[in-house]
Amino acid sequence: MIGEAPHAPFAHNGLLAGRVVLVAGANGALGEAASRACAAAGATVVLLGRRVPRLQRLHDALAAVGPAPAIYPLDLLGATPDDYAQLAASIGEQLGRLDGILHAAAEFQGLTPLQNTDPLEFVNALHVNVGAPFLLTRACLPLLRKAPDAAVVFVLDDPRRVGRAYWGSYGVSKFALQGLLDVFSDELEQSSVRVSGLQPGPMQTGLRAKAFMSERPGTWPPASAYADACVHLLSAAGSEHRGRVWAPAIAWPALDASAVTPASSQATPSALNLPMAPVPDAAS
Ligand SMILES: NC(=O)c1ccc[n+]([C@@H]2O[C@H](COP(=O)([O-])OP(=O)(O)OC[C@H]3O[C@@H](n4cnc5c(N)ncnc54)[C@H](OP(=O)(O)O)[C@@H]3O)[C@@H](O)[C@H]2O)c1
Repeated sequence: MIGEAPHAPFAHNGLLAGRVVLVAGANGALGEAASRACAAAGATVVLLGRRVPRLQRLHDALAAVGPAPAIYPLDLLGATPDDYAQLAASIGEQLGRLDGILHAAAEFQGLTPLQNTDPLEFVNALHVNVGAPFLLTRACLPLLRKAPDAAVVFVLDDPRRVGRAYWGSYGVSKFALQGLLDVFSDELEQSSVRVSGLQPGPMQTGLRAKAFMSERPGTWPPASAYADACVHLLSAAGSEHRGRVWAPAIAWPALDASAVTPASSQATPSALNLPMAPVPDAAS
């Protein structure tokens, strides 16, 4: 499955049949691709995001290929522990079970030196990228523990890239997310809930465009290239990655060497002078 042409039709043969999975960041590139693949694999998908019209459009698309999904609008920045408790209670009451969570939301404002970073933006990004995954997982754990085989999947980024200059709160948060994965995984070692990480390579998404604005289209694969990996980790087969981070290999023909910004390259100060990509209207 990994290594196929990125736009090949999904053929998951019911890998997630009967399961309920929650995708946080379902409006994002990876979140949407994973949600579609999970539905095609037979899952009832709970779509968590903050843009209701887009969630509704995704809802309709998923309903056409799999079990009727559910929408759960939530802004991860403002959500309180009570909001997460309510979310878990609603899933339990309305869907009866929860078999997996894919944490695919991320806040990234672009490459900035820490010295120039707005303090509130730094703290907010840490909250969305680490605090929210903790709160969501914590609230859903009682429900996940009732499932015979449950999976919590955190989406990480390459520490060799984001642990360097200008990656700011986003980079810091991915190291913290690795820590959250390790601690949760250790604590849940004897349980039916397994925790793992997905470390995709560079994907052509809005998030990446905020850091590498001059990359040519087609330099990197679309997020859908990693959708199968999300299904794999959420399915029973994902137990092989329990407690570990999986960085699946994706075959992708880069246009030519000159068009490629190496994944391991350090952000350069010149990139900071480029205009920011537009931030989507939260209401659209
Ligand atoms: N793109 C890459 O090259 C790359 C490489 C390695 C790892 N990753 C990881 O892959 C995951 C998905 O990234 P992506 O490339 O698909 O980015 P993306 O398209 O920008 O998706 C990120 C999603 O997070 C959501 N989000 C941010 N703040 C939120 C909040 N306060 N409440 C609710 N949702 C919020 C965004 O919501 P809105 O749509 O409402 O803005 C967006 O849907 C992230 O964890 C990222 O770190 C990406």
